[in-house]
Amino acid sequence: MPLLAVQGLTKLFGRLVAVDHVDLAIEAGEVVGLIGPNGAGKSTLVNLISGFEPPSEGAVAFAGRPLDALGAPAIARLGLARTFQIAQPFRAMTVRQNVAVPALFRAVPAPSVGAALREADRLLDSVGLGPKAALPAGALTTPDLRRLELAKALALQPRLMLLDEVMAGLTPAEVDAAMALLREVNARGIALLVIEHVLRAVMGLSSRVVVLHHGRKIAEGPPARVTADPAVIEAYLGPGPASR
Ligand SMILES: Nc1ncnc2c1ncn2[C@@H]1O[C@H](COP(=O)(O)OP(=O)(O)OP(=O)(O)O)[C@@H](O)[C@H]1O
Ligand SMILES: [Mg+2]
Repeated sequence: MPLLAVQGLTKLFGRLVAVDHVDLAIEAGEVVGLIGPNGAGKSTLVNLISGFEPPSEGAVAFAGRPLDALGAPAIARLGLARTFQIAQPFRAMTVRQNVAVPALFRAVPAPSVGAALREADRLLDSVGLGPKAALPAGALTTPDLRRLELAKALALQPRLMLLDEVMAGLTPAEVDAAMALLREVNARGIALLVIEHVLRAVMGLSSRVVVLHHGRKIAEGPPARVTADPAVIEAYLGPGPASR
């Protein structure tokens, strides 16, 4: 039984089919990449899996348990964490407090506020935000907000993290650091769904890549095979000379 089992997941926004009958399985400890052009439905898929939007059709199970109608907080407590492409921290709280909150609300919470804050400091060090722990989250730059999203997700002690463009806006050196961090996270047994437009990062981290286009899964397989797939190349670049 896979850790995450998505079947026929579909989301309509009016007449737009944002996610179209997507099947997806992620095994415990696996790293799966999710790519696709802008508007392909990647973030919507994450919203459906994590309970932030109700699906129009289809089902999601996590560790064998159906997630329908559980709601986002309960799904997070089961150990399914997600980050936001557009970070939504508690802006007036410190960076440290933002990470302590999920540590206090997960399935096995930190034993005290003090313990949660100390754990937050360790997590912030691991993502390179240690020096900014005492700042209000509203003062962070965009790359730092992405680090904060990662630290908040880790504070849930998840079994699976859905990472929606945590590397967007990072310099190449920062991407390298983020990749090393995600490898460490994965080495602790946490499965990852990595959504990135930074293809070097997705391809380098994932053993399997899934491609969405207009809400549909158009390809799935090892990174090298997927990037050579004519349907994937066409989705990114438009129809080739042969079909123009
Ligand atoms: N709440 C919403 N209401 C209406 N349409 C939406 C909503 N959310 C997303 N969409 C539309 O659904 C489609 C998929 O959007 P989504 O954000 O999932 O794409 P994406 O693959 O994450 O794109 P990007 O790479 O730009 O982040 C787009 O056409 C988008 O405009
Ligand atoms: Mg998106």
